[in-house]
Amino acid sequence: MAKILLTGGAGYIGSHTYLALIEAGYDVVILDNFSNAKTDVPARLGDISGGKVHVFEGDVLDRALLDELFSTHTIDGVVHFAARKAVGESVAKPLDYMHTNVGGLLNLLAAMDGAGVRRIVFSSSATVYGDTNVQPIPEDHPRTYTSPYAFTKIAGEQILEQLPDNWAVGILRYFNPVGAHRSAIIGEDPEDTPNNLVPYIAKVATGELPELGVFGDDYDTPDGTGVRDYIHVEDLADGHVLSLNALLETGESHTVNLGTGQGSSVLEVLKAYSDASGQNLPHRIAPRRDGDVAVLTARPDAAKATLGFEAKRSLADMCKSSWAWVSGQRRNTH
Ligand code: WQD
Repeated sequence: MAKILLTGGAGYIGSHTYLALIEAGYDVVILDNFSNAKTDVPARLGDISGGKVHVFEGDVLDRALLDELFSTHTIDGVVHFAARKAVGESVAKPLDYMHTNVGGLLNLLAAMDGAGVRRIVFSSSATVYGDTNVQPIPEDHPRTYTSPYAFTKIAGEQILEQLPDNWAVGILRYFNPVGAHRSAIIGEDPEDTPNNLVPYIAKVATGELPELGVFGDDYDTPDGTGVRDYIHVEDLADGHVLSLNALLETGESHTVNLGTGQGSSVLEVLKAYSDASGQNLPHRIAPRRDGDVAVLTARPDAAKATLGFEAKRSLADMCKSSWAWVSGQRRNTH
């Protein structure tokens, strides 16, 4: 059974990918510093998977810990999520973002090379495409950064592109991951007021926030509000399993978008969440948010051709799974 190191495996996408890897028959070790993950996530993962969850608490910047991990476990591949991911925060703290996201990747790659582990799936983002009118976006679109966060993702991709042929790298560019696990035992669990749309709507639905502020309704889109390519976090997790399978089986690298190819507007998402939660969720039109683009949707063809990946779940599924998770949270605390 191949053993995989999941850095950031207690986080939102990492925890869902953990379950998909276990379900696919992989053995998994999680490394997480819990800077952006609740400490009870591994226990919840154990409840869902029914097995023991192997967790190292620590940081990808800790080379000694990485060396210890690679010397005590025979690792066949790595899925690297551990990074800071808030665009706005990266503008305020660019050095922190470069230290963690770029320095952490370089540290991880050095430890992997020292242990002879040269298969890695890298968590990238549609943010590498910058602000573009080319929609849906193909993987060969030029990369340009619009924030220090985006810079660290482009830098990470370009570092990985320098590795010699005995490495196999899967670069996965996420569009907008939303939703929660079908068990409703794990899901997106932001510490404070969310920046992203669906976790914000979720807090309106639970009554923690009064209404959604719609950031502009004067974009060149059908209803004037921003359009994004939302993808269910469980589809995203499945994409990581297919990427890892391909690396281990073929030794060939790939760079693919993980999106549905379908765009949904802010008001369409609000309507879907209202339907999922059985409420008429309130909103007001607010000023545009700096840095937002009108439309951002994926060309999903390369992931299908290279990995056989296709997103299966609908916007309704995403909102229903999110609502089941956040509404259930009020009842059972772990
Ligand atoms: C979606 C739409 C907003 C909140 C971000 C990062 C990106 C990636 C995914 C890491 C936009 C609108 C939002 C609100 C709103 N993260 N909105 N009211 O900006 O597409 O992408 O998350 O890789 O790097 O930039 O996602 O969910 O913030 O916004 O009207 O309270 O919802 O204007 O049109 P975004 P988002």
